[in-house]
Amino acid sequence: METVQARKTRIALTSLFLAVACASLSLQGCGAAPGEEKDLAPPSRSGAQHGDGNGTVSARLGGFDGILAFLENSVVPAELADPEIAPFFTRLTETPGDIEQCLAMLLDHDLGGESPHFGAVLLDGHQCRSSMSNIHRGLAIPDRIVTKFIVIAGQQAALAGVAPADIQEIADVLDSYRGGVRNK
Ligand code: HEM
Repeated sequence: METVQARKTRIALTSLFLAVACASLSLQGCGAAPGEEKDLAPPSRSGAQHGDGNGTVSARLGGFDGILAFLENSVVPAELADPEIAPFFTRLTETPGDIEQCLAMLLDHDLGGESPHFGAVLLDGHQCRSSMSNIHRGLAIPDRIVTKFIVIAGQQAALAGVAPADIQEIADVLDSYRGGVRNK
C-alpha cells in the first residue's frame, strides 16, 4: 500500500520529469531536424517512440544493447559532469563498464526486456549484485542526489528523443530502487 508521502513524492517526480522532458523538447523546437536528433537504437525505434503502444519500453530503447549504449554515451558522461554526482564514483569496487552493464541489464529487465534482473556473470568475472543496499552501502547518497541522478537520466533520454511516457517509465523504474540506494 502506497503511503501518502510516497504518493506525493511520486507525483512530484512525475511533474518534474514532464517539465524536464518538455523543456528539453521545446529547446529543440519539439523535435530536432532529421539527423540532428541523437538516437538510441535506430532499427527498433520506428514509430514506437511516438507512443503508439507497440512493444515494450526496452524494445523501443533497443533492448540491452541500446540501453547500454545510452548509458555509456549519454547518461554516464552527464552524471559525471555534475559536481555533486561525480564524487560518489571515485572509490569504486568494480569497473565503470561493470556498473554500466549491470545497470543496463536491470533496466532492460524492468522495462520488459529479456536480460536477467541480476546475477549475470560478466566477461571479466564480475557478477551483477541483487541488493541495492549492499551495492550502495557506505556511499551515504542523500535522497536529493538520487532525485538529481534520475532527473539527469531523464534529461538525457529527452535529448535522445525518447517519448515522454517512456521517460516516465524509466524514471519510475529508477525511483523504485530509491529506498535501497539512499542513505546507506
Ligand atoms: C536510482 C537508482 C539506482 C539504481 C537502480 C542503481 C543501480 C546500480 C547498479 C545495478 C550498480 C552495479 C552494481 C552491480 O551489480 O555490481 C550500481 C553501482 C553503483 N552505483 Fe548505483 N544505482 C542507482 C543510483 C545511484 C546513485 C544516485 C548513485 C550516486 C550518486 C549511485 C552510485 C553507484 C556507485 C558508486 C556504484 C559502484 C559501487 C561500487 O563500485 O562498489 N547509484 N548502481
